Amino acid sequence: MDASADYLLLDCGDGRRLEAVGPWLFDRQAAQAFWPRRLPDSEWQRASCVHVRSDKGGGHWDFHGQEPSELIGRHAGLAFRLRPTPFGHLGIFPEHADTWARLNAFIAARSARGLETEVLNLFAYTGGGTLSAANAGAKVCHVDASKGAVAWARSNAELNGLNDKPIRWIEDDCGAFLAREARRGRHYDAVMLDPPTYGRGPKGEVFTLETQAMELLAAVRALLAPGASVFFSCHTPGFTPLVLEQLAHAAFGSDCKATGRELFTDCRSGGVLPSGVCVEALLP
Ligand SMILES: C[S@@+](CC[C@H](N)C(=O)[O-])C[C@H]1O[C@@H](n2cnc3c(N)ncnc32)[C@H](O)[C@@H]1O
Repeated sequence: MDASADYLLLDCGDGRRLEAVGPWLFDRQAAQAFWPRRLPDSEWQRASCVHVRSDKGGGHWDFHGQEPSELIGRHAGLAFRLRPTPFGHLGIFPEHADTWARLNAFIAARSARGLETEVLNLFAYTGGGTLSAANAGAKVCHVDASKGAVAWARSNAELNGLNDKPIRWIEDDCGAFLAREARRGRHYDAVMLDPPTYGRGPKGEVFTLETQAMELLAAVRALLAPGASVFFSCHTPGFTPLVLEQLAHAAFGSDCKATGRELFTDCRSGGVLPSGVCVEALLP
């Protein structure tokens, strides 16, 4: 059965989250939900897709009934093809919606001054930030090391009728791409980056945020136009909003205006699910 409906976070607690897209209910890990669930067990037992983590990394889904196919979830005014992945992802990180709205306000303010905005989206995954910025009128360069993720993002662009927008789709290691763009003398008005804790480029290049955060931000700095805005987020233990603010000042200069915050998704049963941190750095 196909579905095209709003993505909803129904409940979270006891280390799990319960999410709905139309008739499909997903029960998967939310390690940061240390509090008890608000909804009764009977609601959680209705979940049709339950993710089971493996202690070797990744995991698998138990499907009670049919496995969802061609699942389309709507979030933040965009449609996303969703797919339960072995790692327990669905294909969107809904907590970024507030960042997309802030970037859109930045694009709109520039456009009111008659300025175009060129946005660079690094570690761009299934393209939520890319599509949101393109929809707001920006030119976007979308970079991800995974061929599958870039194909997924392009199919999301098509789904939203945005395939004719000025989007460059780049399948590459972000570090290698940043170095190439610097050699070409390219500049961007806004950069969005959501690096993983640990990742690999297409040639197996190992990336760890703990050891490479400063190097990555310094490479971003080389591409920033005057007055540029950077949205740097992550989901890495130890990286708090204050840590991100310190990193932003170290990389972009003490005269940049850096404001850190927590990322979260509103929960229908009450409260929020905190999911990572973000800093917005505005250069002079
Ligand atoms: C945490 S997800 C980003 C989530 C995304 N910002 C969103 O809101 O949907 C991490 C992404 O980084 C990509 N990635 C990991 N290491 C990379 C690297 N060295 N260069 C480029 N992309 C990388 C992965 O393929 C994955 O799509």
